[in-house]
Amino acid sequence: MSEMILPKIGLGTWVLKPYEARYSTIQAIKLGYRFVDTAQAYRNEVGVGEGLKEVFETGIAKREEVIVATKIYPLNVRPKAAVRSTYKSLKRLQLDYVDIMYIHYPAFVLGYSHKKTLGALGELVDEGKIRHIGVSNFTPNQIIDALDVIDKPIYANQIEHHPYLKQQSVLKFHKDKNIIQVSYSPLGRAKVLKDPVINEIAEKNKVSAAQVCLAWVINKGAYPIPKATSLDHLKDNFAALDLQLSDEDIKKIDAIDKHERYVHPPVVSPKEWKKKK
Ligand SMILES: NC(=O)c1ccc[n+]([C@@H]2O[C@H](COP(=O)([O-])OP(=O)(O)OC[C@H]3O[C@@H](n4cnc5c(N)ncnc54)[C@H](OP(=O)(O)O)[C@@H]3O)[C@@H](O)[C@H]2O)c1
Repeated sequence: MSEMILPKIGLGTWVLKPYEARYSTIQAIKLGYRFVDTAQAYRNEVGVGEGLKEVFETGIAKREEVIVATKIYPLNVRPKAAVRSTYKSLKRLQLDYVDIMYIHYPAFVLGYSHKKTLGALGELVDEGKIRHIGVSNFTPNQIIDALDVIDKPIYANQIEHHPYLKQQSVLKFHKDKNIIQVSYSPLGRAKVLKDPVINEIAEKNKVSAAQVCLAWVINKGAYPIPKATSLDHLKDNFAALDLQLSDEDIKKIDAIDKHERYVHPPVVSPKEWKKKK
């Protein structure tokens, strides 16, 4: 299989019900999106799968043109459960393989092991069921420990990243290790869209606040996956690819003095997250 080029923007689907996920997947791919993100935890893989089936069958896009990513649910992180649940994901998605399979959280308390869990995913890579292994919500130290004991690369780490959670040191770590940073909640769950600096830059550039947030994430070399339910939001977000922010605008956003983490589930979140950066 040829080298994978990740599209600069993807479609997030957290919290979408299966019928909404089907709709958003179809509309997004019609608009030009070629990267869809779901997870076992979202309980909408069936809807994403139905949407994908429709776009492939109607010729809107070919399977090999769309990057499909899903994630192992924290309760499935033991090696056997990781493999079994991957097969179930493939069935729900109606796919022969997924492009990225992430470990959703470094859930050591639930039986996650760098060597055994990622080793099991490595076997699925060899079998052609997974193209790339991803991790999500991993700290740099956890990635260093994982890379020490596995023989396959980690393709991406999916973490929260938006103008209120800038992740500078983590971004640098990913670049140094050649690991792609996929940025989730890039709009700060819509809360960052009210920020006065973001809105001032949006007005000046005659674009939306969402586009400013997404263009800022892309400018940092990361890959945002905004979630959108309506066609208007899907269109608006995709148009961020056409927005080039000036250095001055980027500096203004960098200088926003806020640190907010919106996603912090108990039990599975890394302990380091409690520290402010
Ligand atoms: N790996 C993880 O642990 C993890 C955690 C969280 C999220 N994620 C992934 O990242 C994706 C995105 O993150 P998120 O859903 O938390 O938050 P987000 O993308 O930052 O924000 C989504 C919110 O913004 C609104 N919105 C989207 N586009 C808009 C626009 N152009 N103008 C105004 N409002 C807009 C959405 O409304 P509408 O729905 O009405 O369009 C929704 O309320 C998720 O869906 C999921 O795939 C992963």
